[in-house]
Amino acid sequence: MTVVGIPSASKLSQTDLLRELEPVVEENLERHLKVAKEWMPHEYVPWSQGRDFDGVLGGEAWEPGDSKMSDVARTSLIVNLLTEDNLPSYHHEIATVFGRDAAWGTWVHQWTAEEGRHAIAIRDYLLVTRAVDPVALERARMTHMSAGFESANHDDLLRSLAYVSFQELATRISHRNTGRHSGDKVCEQLLARVAQDENLHMVFYRNLLAGSLELAPNETMRAITDVVKGFQMPGHGIENFGRKAVQMAVAGIYDLRIHHNEVIMPVLRNLKIFDTAGLSGDGEKAREELATFMADLDANATRFEERREANRQRAAARAG
Ligand SMILES: [Fe+2]
Ligand SMILES: [Fe+2]
Repeated sequence: MTVVGIPSASKLSQTDLLRELEPVVEENLERHLKVAKEWMPHEYVPWSQGRDFDGVLGGEAWEPGDSKMSDVARTSLIVNLLTEDNLPSYHHEIATVFGRDAAWGTWVHQWTAEEGRHAIAIRDYLLVTRAVDPVALERARMTHMSAGFESANHDDLLRSLAYVSFQELATRISHRNTGRHSGDKVCEQLLARVAQDENLHMVFYRNLLAGSLELAPNETMRAITDVVKGFQMPGHGIENFGRKAVQMAVAGIYDLRIHHNEVIMPVLRNLKIFDTAGLSGDGEKAREELATFMADLDANATRFEERREANRQRAAARAG
């Protein structure tokens, strides 16, 4: 696609891009505010199940028998909650790169306010239902938040836009599937509501990425490729994340197949990445690199699925 009126599109500085994208931010902010419905976190929490804990109020200490959740559902809820907990760091990251002026600033604060509900609601649910050890949870939050979050795309607008587009969708899918695995309708309902928010966030960022592709196609294409190739979940800094991520993958909450089919590909398809004309030089090279990477990811996903199925069958045979 040639961009009329912007002869030096490939030379756009970050400040130029922020300014050129401003109308797209405005339009999508307006759209977002129309479709994002107000919701009340307190309505989703089964307060009647709550009991005082030991300590200050002299209630009953948590014990493992209190939790009705499977081990993997618990792990997944903790990962999702700790991820949400790091909101102050995410806010800092996006406020730094998007700025706090005009429509960009309005979005940064709106987004932050909406995200703030997620940790509140999930923590309330987990504590009221005694699904997790509250002391371990609080210590994990302190450890995780004390480390902060620094994006690999720090200060780079296009890479940041690409990252958040995929990350919001990844988070949406992770919440939704965690809810399904929880075995509790109340939990599923809450996480489905959170997932709806993440979906609208994804749409917002994806539309900005589409706008960037028009303004600076080659640079945006490069940013997308680099981000997809190096993608890490926002919670990757959580203690023992690797082990937890494997547990979630084995359970099918978030695995390579889901990452390929339900997170990366839908965004690439929506942006028509593989059938957009007008790329040249490094942009074309980046698209080829992305195609190769996606084919490898697909093959790895299949290998993982086959291994997982074989393990399941072996375990079933052992169980008799
Ligand atoms: Fe969130
Ligand atoms: Fe979000």
